[in-house]
Amino acid sequence: MKFVLASHNPGKLKEMQEVLGQLGVEVVLQSQLGIQVDVEETGTTFAENALLKAQAVCAAGGLPAISDDSGLCVDALNGAPGVYTARYGGEGLTDEQRYRLLLRNLQGLTPRTCHFETAIACAFPDGTVLTAEGRCDGTVAYAPMGTDGFGYDPIFWVPGLKKTFAQLSPEEKNAISHRGNALRAFGKVLEGYLGAPNRQ
Ligand code: IMP
Repeated sequence: MKFVLASHNPGKLKEMQEVLGQLGVEVVLQSQLGIQVDVEETGTTFAENALLKAQAVCAAGGLPAISDDSGLCVDALNGAPGVYTARYGGEGLTDEQRYRLLLRNLQGLTPRTCHFETAIACAFPDGTVLTAEGRCDGTVAYAPMGTDGFGYDPIFWVPGLKKTFAQLSPEEKNAISHRGNALRAFGKVLEGYLGAPNRQ
């Protein structure tokens, strides 16, 4: 079985392929099939955005399509940046400018607790939808630390490990991350679906 990943990100493809490959599913990027759909993320939740992307790419390609949507939710900012994580501070900022803005906006506020969240949606041509979610709790560091990873990793502090995400190896991060947790949960959902006796 072949799934289209509703993304242009080869890093995401690798992560998806690792989990879904074990279930005999091949994952390809939408660009590899020439599917030029760029969905506006107009949903108010990660789950809505993931579903919007998966359904649009499924409709365009006629194949099962899988998508994920993630973001960082900071308690003292009432859950912001949330679904606006990728756009925090407006267009054209670098990742570093965005997380430095977040540090400034959080100055003097407590608590610094936060979590990363990922929603995964998979849409099938027959209208079936499978979903899964994952999260990872942490706090916002007082200053950036570490050089690995991407996005907000340098300021996401994992209290149990006393390190930021950017100070973890990819394997260490994947074992506890929101995306890792969502992917593992999705793997179980998909395994149940593929094994269901009445599936055509
Ligand atoms: P996306 O939905 O995975 O594209 O991510 C949305 C936003 O959240 C982007 O700004 C990413 O940089 C940020 N983000 C998502 N996952 C992570 C992560 O694991 N570490 C740091 N930033 C992340």
